[in-house]
Amino acid sequence: MTTTRILTGITTSGTPHLGNYVGAIRPAVAASRTPDSQNFYFLADLHALIKVQDPAKVQRSTLEIAASWLACGLEPDNDRVWFYRQSDIPEISELTWFLTCIAGKGLLNRAHAYKAAVDRNTAEGQDPDFGVTAGLFMYPVLMAADILIFNAHQVPVGRDQIQHIEMARDFAQRFNHLYGDHFVLPEARVEEHVATLPGLDGRKMSKSYDNTIPLFAPREQLKKLIFSIVTDSRAPGEAKDTEGSALFQLYQAFASAEDTAAMRAAYAEGIGWGDAKQRLFERIDTEIAPLREHYEALIAKPADIEERLREGGRTARERMAMPFLAQLREAVGLRDLSQLTIVDVRQDHENRLGKPAAQRVPAIKQYRETDGRFHFKLMDGEHVLLQSIGFDNPKDAGVWVARLRREGAGVMDEVRGLLEVSVPAVEDALEALRLAEEAKAVEKSG
Ligand code: TRP
Repeated sequence: MTTTRILTGITTSGTPHLGNYVGAIRPAVAASRTPDSQNFYFLADLHALIKVQDPAKVQRSTLEIAASWLACGLEPDNDRVWFYRQSDIPEISELTWFLTCIAGKGLLNRAHAYKAAVDRNTAEGQDPDFGVTAGLFMYPVLMAADILIFNAHQVPVGRDQIQHIEMARDFAQRFNHLYGDHFVLPEARVEEHVATLPGLDGRKMSKSYDNTIPLFAPREQLKKLIFSIVTDSRAPGEAKDTEGSALFQLYQAFASAEDTAAMRAAYAEGIGWGDAKQRLFERIDTEIAPLREHYEALIAKPADIEERLREGGRTARERMAMPFLAQLREAVGLRDLSQLTIVDVRQDHENRLGKPAAQRVPAIKQYRETDGRFHFKLMDGEHVLLQSIGFDNPKDAGVWVARLRREGAGVMDEVRGLLEVSVPAVEDALEALRLAEEAKAVEKSG
């Protein structure tokens, strides 16, 4: 059984909040402990450049996110659990170019993020591409390179990212089709049971709504924020709805099933909002306080985090990304010229197709000329290798065709008199044809 490789990327464009913790960090750290899996977690700092053009912010966010994941219990061991920074692996950028050269532009036109920008511009009467960078447009290709460089099987993502994984599959498939089987086709894994947290105003917790609770806000700030969560105006003593209550949903994301049931009962009994908020605050703080302490210790030593990330990146490159990229360079033809002999060069010239002869199966085509006579020709791709004289009877042509298929280059001497065209490559082609026929026969009988 092969180990499942699971890959998670985190864009370094902000400060982690409780929504990130519940929706991504907590489940991913738990998953990293599953046996028989190899887990890749990386800081997508090249992706961050698409959105954030403030260098200090990119740096700060990278530190905060790295420290958050470590504080929440990620234990990189450079074997089962990898933790690195995207920009430390230049092979990702190089692979991005290889994929760029096969990615359909039309497919990228349909990417959600790009399309949303175009739709917004169009609605506002602007040029469709107003303010759109090529970076935003190419986002899915860079993301595909992140995934394919480690041949990840599974990518846990939110619904908004499924399309990106489908694109990565598309690029991988095209590449494999052109250059041979190099990539695993990755699958999106959507965690159905992971909660999407509401923010302070009840909408989904998100930086773009400015309604977040920072994961490692100091205790007092956490309390203040929780007390600012929007509730309805029901007074203490009045029964309250759990349905649609952001407070309740937040509580549920941090509490056991029993505690959640107890809170539900308290709602029905008319708990006051102040008391409910106090309970929520305590529940969250109990879980977060030890992690916060760990976080504070980590973030006080940025050089240690830097070292761990570099070490992860260096080892991942050496063991995986570099040898794999060398293989891909070879596959696309970025090759060592000195390995090409003069004979290869000449043969390639004759073959014109560039693929090694062994990979091609020539074809025999039978046809009738305007004079009513029956011919056949041996084709290698577009090239006519040999062409028969005309036969009055299609059966006579058929007998020769059958012999060519069966006997390969063995019939050359005899067949010469029948030919109008003869080139040296014909023998090779006939051999390839015979071998292909043999293989077909074996397949049928086996
Ligand atoms: N696009 C992802 C997000 O915004 C981040 C990301 C970048 C990613 N590269 C990835 C996620 C590769 C999974 C795999 O959340």
